[in-house]
Amino acid sequence: MSSVKCIGVLTSGGDAPGMNAAIRAVTRSAIYNGLQVKGIYRGYKGLITDEIVEFKTENVSDIIQRGGTILKTARCQEFKTPEGRKLAYDTMKKENIDALVIIGGDGSLTGARLFAEEFDVPCIGLPGTIDNDLYGTDTTIGYDTALNTIMEAVDKIRDTATSHERLFFIEVMGRDAGFLALNGAVASGAEAAIIPEESTEVDQLEDLIKNGFRKSKSSSIVLVAESEITGGAMHYAERVKKEYPEYDVRVTILGHVQRGGSPSANDRILASRLGHASVEALLEGQRNVMCGMQNSEVVYVPFTQAIKNQKSIDKNLVKVLKILSI
Ligand code: ADP
Ligand code: F6P
Repeated sequence: MSSVKCIGVLTSGGDAPGMNAAIRAVTRSAIYNGLQVKGIYRGYKGLITDEIVEFKTENVSDIIQRGGTILKTARCQEFKTPEGRKLAYDTMKKENIDALVIIGGDGSLTGARLFAEEFDVPCIGLPGTIDNDLYGTDTTIGYDTALNTIMEAVDKIRDTATSHERLFFIEVMGRDAGFLALNGAVASGAEAAIIPEESTEVDQLEDLIKNGFRKSKSSSIVLVAESEITGGAMHYAERVKKEYPEYDVRVTILGHVQRGGSPSANDRILASRLGHASVEALLEGQRNVMCGMQNSEVVYVPFTQAIKNQKSIDKNLVKVLKILSI
């Protein structure tokens, strides 16, 4: 049995569509179970500086459809130090918060793992990032919406690319993961995706050209995952200008537009189910796990696994993209 009476909820790292739906689910599930809930503003920063407000059900009304996060978010260097985490713990004691739900990506859950180990505080993570780079969950909150945003943007670029018979390199986010690039390419019928997971194996540009890329096509679109490993869209455009000057090449960097917008139905449902599961987990006495979704079932993944294990790209999808772009 759990002795949790008051849950603190925060969002941390890059915002993601669906974070608000998760905050709503945590708040309402906790209140339904007779627990108190406190909203912590600006992620770990607000936990250190005590920017905390008690949440009632009405605090989370009319937010399920909104992008971003009503709790704001931040990247907090101080929390990376033992002194910073001690200050955060002191605030928790002062506010009588005895468990935390952390909604964020890889970095946020790394911080949660350390904090939970050092201070014996039950922490539950919810995977909130457009990058989809957390192990142990099929998708992360925000990923589906970002994918749809990318698909709609590429559809629009296709119109002008076809009219001018151009080659476009479109850079998408993902930090060091290629999920958005690969799945965005399949969804938008792009000719190829350049992703970090494949970079070590072949020269992906040479591979494209050698395989008859662009024969009989009036336009070509290549999605490039942002990453030091790929070098980004500009890198490939420069190479094409030098090595294949016959192509009329352009670059679009989609940027932060990918993080905004109203969450998709899938992200709202995922966030609602995982937010509810985080409260159930605390009531069952679980701690230091991330709530994930595998084959439509809620699972609890230890922080160590969610963070350390590398979620792999579906090699079969790489093959499907190649076949369908002939
Ligand atoms: P994300 O959670 O989206 O991956 P970041 O990597 O920026 O985003 O991490 C968000 C926050 O989590 C950081 O600003 C910091 O406060 C905390 N954090 C990240 N890494 C660590 C770490 N190694 N130790 C402690 N806290 C961390
Ligand atoms: O982790 C989410 C993400 O959008 C990554 O895809 C991207 O690399 C990074 O955050 C951008 O961070 P910032 O908003 O601080 O520029």
